[in-house]
Amino acid sequence: MKKCSRKVWAGLALLALPAIVSASCALPSTYKWTSTGPLANPKSGWLSLKDFSHVPYNGQHLVYSSTVNTAGSYGSMNFGLFSNWTNLSTASQNAMNQGTVAPTLFYFSPKKIWVLAYEWAATPFAYVTSSDPTNANGWSASQPLFSGSISPANPIDPALISDGKNMYLFFAGDNGSIYRSSMPIGQFPSSFGTSYTTVMSAATDDLFEAVQVYTVSGQNQYLMIVECIGSVGRYFRSFTATSLSGTWTPQAATESNPFAGHANSGATWTNDISSGDIIRSTNDETMTIDPCNLQLLYQGMAVGSTGDYNSLPWRPAVLTLTNPGSSTGGSTGSGGSGGSGSGQASQYAQCGGLGYAGPTVCQAHQSPYTCTFVNEYYSQCL
Ligand SMILES: *[C@@H]1O[C@H](CO)[C@@H](O)[C@H](O)[C@H]1NC(C)=O
Ligand SMILES: *[C@@H]1O[C@H](CO)[C@@H](O)[C@H](O)[C@H]1NC(C)=O
Ligand SMILES: *[C@@H]1O[C@H](CO)[C@@H](O)[C@H](O)[C@H]1NC(C)=O
Repeated sequence: MKKCSRKVWAGLALLALPAIVSASCALPSTYKWTSTGPLANPKSGWLSLKDFSHVPYNGQHLVYSSTVNTAGSYGSMNFGLFSNWTNLSTASQNAMNQGTVAPTLFYFSPKKIWVLAYEWAATPFAYVTSSDPTNANGWSASQPLFSGSISPANPIDPALISDGKNMYLFFAGDNGSIYRSSMPIGQFPSSFGTSYTTVMSAATDDLFEAVQVYTVSGQNQYLMIVECIGSVGRYFRSFTATSLSGTWTPQAATESNPFAGHANSGATWTNDISSGDIIRSTNDETMTIDPCNLQLLYQGMAVGSTGDYNSLPWRPAVLTLTNPGSSTGGSTGSGGSGGSGSGQASQYAQCGGLGYAGPTVCQAHQSPYTCTFVNEYYSQCL
């Protein structure tokens, strides 16, 4: 992996001692990954392991997952702690006595309590709390997290994140929309109630499910990924925002230039890059990711697998980004060397703006994209 966490000198002009700051990485406009193969098989009685949620835990990995058993019923589990992804194959698989499907795990630092949010309880979303998340059966009784309705669709795949002031709940509906609720952080954990805002809408397949939202470390930026249904398989589109209550700008948002999908995963064992979690650099409610070291824990399934959706043989695997962007601009659409205005920006990528040093020419595919002025900070290939 390209190492891009490095020291840069600031404060050049004045006679004061220059400060040393650690640079962050910009998100690339074209993502390129390498993939592991499937990392674990479900234990006896289960058909699949899916919908992963991951936190770093005392220097090790802690992963929760949905399960589907041989009778077609959903449940949930966690893996015993492990240090290296290659060891997921031998980590213990611990069934939960309450099914927390599509789990989202984090440490809620203001109250010093672990929270596991999930779907399909007495309310569409619910949560449980614990002081020891390594114990799959040490969780509290279920509490309501969201009781609203998006009828005729159903709320699915809760994602929680805080900006330090408010707690936000984002969710999907398998119907082309992404929704948001919020509450002051001091009220959490509790129910978001019934109200919500629709933050994005598109064709059903183009904003389907498995939404996740992250704080991008060092970038004053949030990243949203949404699982979509493509012509080849499931893939993720990405969007960015500067505020969790603000609007989302498409980033790598097509099946041919996705955040992660068949086109750029590097995986050959699966065509599908589906529900999972970007590997977070903290365990807390900020859902922080390190753009210099992006990895995605995802569910894939062997090419050619067929059958009822709930019986498909999903397995965990990990993508590692091979072209993190430079701190002064995104990488280009043609190999990841950006930063000096060379190369071509892909559809939806930034192509100009104050302080921007990346490519200013838009890539030509079937039809040429034009570098379009959005505001003084941002021009985009549209
Ligand atoms: C994980 O295990 C693999 C294979 O044994 C090894 O090559 C790699 O260096 C290990 N990674 C870490 C972070 O220990
Ligand atoms: C982790 O996996 C590696 C091989 O990939 C193996 O050598 C090592 O013993 C495993 N460690 C544990 C704790 O299972
Ligand atoms: C999704 O469902 C909601 C609630 O019924 C509806 O308002 C919205 O228009 C739907 N979106 C699509 C793209 O069908």
